Amino acid sequence: MTMPPDREAPAEHPIEALLRRRWSPRSFTGAPVAQAAIDSLLEAARWAASSSNQQPWHLILARRDTEPEAFARLLGTLAPGNQAWADKAGVLMLAVARMTNPANGNPNRDAFYDTGAAMAQMALQAAALGLQLHQMGGFDAAKAREAFGIPEGYEPAAAIALGHVAPAEALPGGMDGALAAREVAPRQRRPIGDWAFFGSWRQ
Ligand SMILES: Cc1cc2nc3c(=O)[nH]c(=O)nc-3n(C[C@H](O)[C@H](O)[C@H](O)COP(=O)(O)O)c2cc1C
Repeated sequence: MTMPPDREAPAEHPIEALLRRRWSPRSFTGAPVAQAAIDSLLEAARWAASSSNQQPWHLILARRDTEPEAFARLLGTLAPGNQAWADKAGVLMLAVARMTNPANGNPNRDAFYDTGAAMAQMALQAAALGLQLHQMGGFDAAKAREAFGIPEGYEPAAAIALGHVAPAEALPGGMDGALAAREVAPRQRRPIGDWAFFGSWRQ
């Protein structure tokens, strides 16, 4: 087997090596993730900035080795295209946002923004530890709510696969399959000028 592909971002301006190193693999080995690494990931998420320091993020974790029933339940909420590869994650997670401010009950329009920011920090911590995670919007939020007893006022925001990266050829379909093709496709981004405007919209 070949090594996992070199997925380092071809950044056009200087950025931190850790930012270049983070990517979203689909090929995982299925090996367990050490508890100390999970603890570090949670700590990294914990220190994210948030609106009024409300910290609206919540997380359900299911380790493949120690919570196989919850792992299968979480896997079952994923879109079929994600189920095809996410079963080899070491940990599956569900990021959930609290949609109101606990201090006054007002809606928190920053809840998803802040939950995403915490997960972005977690992704970078994973990369720093030689792991990677893959966030997924492709899951059934209603099914996840039901499967994990998520109460009203909280919204499932994303599913996340975490684990040790495996070579692309370990994906279902092997190197000729569609999953492997996506795994080794060049990493691309819109040019900065498409979305960063100085002074006014589209300037
Ligand atoms: C909120 C969110 C939802 C995503 N949903 C999916 C998904 O359902 N399935 C999938 O394979 N990738 C999903 N991705 C991964 C993106 O496709 C990936 O981040 C993007 O192509 C950029 O690649 P990179 O993360 O390797 O830089 C999602 C990413 C985010 C942040």
